[in-house]
Amino acid sequence: MSLQSHLSEVAGAAFAELGLDQALGEVVPSQRPELAQFQCNGAMEAAKAARRSPREIADQVAASLAAHPDIAIADVAGPGFININLEDTALATWAETSAGDDRLGYAGTREPLNVLVDYAGPNVAKAMHVGHLRATIIGDSLARLFHFAGHKVIRDPHFGDWGFQMGLLISVLKEEGLDPAAITLDDLQRIYPEASARATTDQEFADAARAATVRLQHEDAESLEIWRQMKAVSESSQRQDFAALGVAFDLWYGESDVHDRLDPLTRRLEGEGVAVESDGALVVPVGQPDDNREWPPLILKSRAGGFLYSTTDLATVEMRVEDLDVDLVLYVVDHRQGDHFEQVFRAARKAGIAPESVALEHIHFGTMNGSDGKPFKTREGGVVRLRDVIEMIRGAAKQRLDEAQLAEEYPEEEREQIAAQVGVAALKFGDLINNRASDYVLDLDRFSSFEGKTGPYVQYQAVRIKSILRKAAEQGLAPGAIQPPISPGERSLMLDLLHLPEVIDRSIELRAPNHLAAYAHELAMRFSSFYDVHHILSEPDAERQASWLALSQWTLGALTTLLDLLGIEVPARM
Ligand code: ARG
Repeated sequence: MSLQSHLSEVAGAAFAELGLDQALGEVVPSQRPELAQFQCNGAMEAAKAARRSPREIADQVAASLAAHPDIAIADVAGPGFININLEDTALATWAETSAGDDRLGYAGTREPLNVLVDYAGPNVAKAMHVGHLRATIIGDSLARLFHFAGHKVIRDPHFGDWGFQMGLLISVLKEEGLDPAAITLDDLQRIYPEASARATTDQEFADAARAATVRLQHEDAESLEIWRQMKAVSESSQRQDFAALGVAFDLWYGESDVHDRLDPLTRRLEGEGVAVESDGALVVPVGQPDDNREWPPLILKSRAGGFLYSTTDLATVEMRVEDLDVDLVLYVVDHRQGDHFEQVFRAARKAGIAPESVALEHIHFGTMNGSDGKPFKTREGGVVRLRDVIEMIRGAAKQRLDEAQLAEEYPEEEREQIAAQVGVAALKFGDLINNRASDYVLDLDRFSSFEGKTGPYVQYQAVRIKSILRKAAEQGLAPGAIQPPISPGERSLMLDLLHLPEVIDRSIELRAPNHLAAYAHELAMRFSSFYDVHHILSEPDAERQASWLALSQWTLGALTTLLDLLGIEVPARM
């Protein structure tokens, strides 16, 4: 149990003694840490329900709290806020227990679910761009969080490999007479933008591409051969990009993996009257009586007879429910696809594909912008490839390391490795520190700085603790039992560390890694100020010194775990 839930139980019991609801005893960290460590606001609500004065209830609860051996002070402020401070001895006991726990006092979930995280969303032929970056970073962090909480997590990128863009590419490749076996990623990246632009003006070409899509979807042998090669070259390049970001998937399913389901599914829905013909296409109407706007139907089959992005998504829900037995699916995809997912989810419910017990959530996010406030582009206004962004940030990280004179005399290979780790930290933290719904500006200079709210700062603090512990070990010093704190900074550090379980739960509940990032940064700063005041390695009192080493080790464990949940590694040294 966490310290906060323990205090909530104690306060809950005090409310219960007064014949009031135990749930009113919820204790949270104080909003005014200069006044108290914790607070409980239940008296206000209790007063409403019991028609009594909040102050009177608060006084009674506070009196019973103050009698508890773990609590040093419980007093009432304002209309009935109960402020609580812990005994330092109790704090030390809690610290000792959490510090010794390899899960840092975090119990995790009591109801493990099968959670599928659908993220990254790469496509055949298209190089991944910055739009895929946020999906990758946020999705990966959420997958790590759910896994840490004890859920079974399935990571699946939902490779875009079965829609209209396949027909576009196949048409051009055939026109150019390229040998399918010799198709390269460069060919595809040259052809795709041209073809997709051409399809908007050249009706005949667009029709031919649609027909080519249908032929592929009916498994025409020649189309399949080209398609396999396109898929292979795209996938291998994308896997390299993901590896550079430290991201790996459990499955690598694509839209095409449900192609066997498309025909039976659409037929069934048509037979049941869930899908209807509209203007030559087959659609599922998804409007509901209480809608306050018009919802266009989900299109299952185009007039040309092709299956679409929406069809494969619907069939994928079916596959995930039937074959993967999912309880929760998180679709980490940018906000512009909000309507698409709402349509798919509604259709899935209507068609009985997803029972109410299966939760389908669109985890949307805002745009990564350039310094002009517009979606991040190259200087020429082109789409920036993910690979280029990774290169750029790695370069910035290297420069920062040089400026800070870090890792200077290490072997070249290690320096490269550290630069890569710092670069990834800069990029991921720079993203995850923002509320995911907001847009943000990609600022390589700021993100890669060792100062401020950045990944490299937090990473560097963790590395610094490693070095302190290494030096201590060299001097034959070992961590020992945690003693009650002797300074406000030490006390705050302990209290902060004990708050970890709530921060993790909150990040999971809101699907919001930014809470994790902000907390990691706060913890790193707290340690830094603690270390400024207390000179661990030269401390004469051996017990105190051993306690501080334990506190350092605990902080390192927490920072390492938090960074890992953000997808960031901590180098051995810097
Ligand atoms: N490939 C899509 C894109 O680039 C994203 C896929 C998201 N996942 C899904 N199940 N639709 O836009």
